[in-house]
Amino acid sequence: MTRLLVLSAATRPTSSGRPLAEWVARQAREHGTFEVVPVDLAELALPFLDEPEYASSGNYAHRHTREWSALVDSADAFVFVLPMYNGGFTAPFKNAVDFLYREWQGKPVGLVSYSAGGSGGAPAARMLLPVLTQLGMRPAGRSVAVAGINALIGAEGFGAPEGLAGEVAGVLDDIAALAKEPAAA
Ligand SMILES: Cc1cc2nc3c(=O)[nH]c(=O)nc-3n(C[C@H](O)[C@H](O)[C@H](O)COP(=O)(O)O)c2cc1C
Repeated sequence: MTRLLVLSAATRPTSSGRPLAEWVARQAREHGTFEVVPVDLAELALPFLDEPEYASSGNYAHRHTREWSALVDSADAFVFVLPMYNGGFTAPFKNAVDFLYREWQGKPVGLVSYSAGGSGGAPAARMLLPVLTQLGMRPAGRSVAVAGINALIGAEGFGAPEGLAGEVAGVLDDIAALAKEPAAA
């Protein structure tokens, strides 16, 4: 089974995206093709990149890096559930990506962005794509943008608008298909 890490890329304690990420992880479980590992970037509490050597060396001086490396290394594929701040992806998330290198390479990744406004964070996802490609990741053809996130969070958690489950299933289908194809050497 493909081991899919569903990363909630937010770090604010009151993040609206956390319930969305939990919902996405449930959708991934129901998809039936994945062993789902939910990860909360806030809980990892990574500092700003503090490794003396480049990530490409794989030589990590710090325990927090080794633990993050082991987690990412153990995954076959990813869904990043990412917020948009000021028209782009967030600094803590990019920092977490930059901590590692080889661990990302060749792996399929799907993006579920969100924002308070009407774009659903699609500009943040678009901004991230060249970063992922640079790292040798294989982005899913489809992505999902969830607009008006704050209005979708209630006492019961995330209330999915009509059609969203189908959109997320499309991204998961793309990831499953990519995971079956061997990554280029
Ligand atoms: C620093 C900051 C910048 C933001 N910039 C935008 C923005 O450019 N467009 C938008 O629609 N929402 C923006 N928002 C609102 C966020 O998209 C919304 O609060 C979302 O819930 C943030 O994710 P989080 O709750 O997981 O932190 C911004 C929020 C913050 C904290």
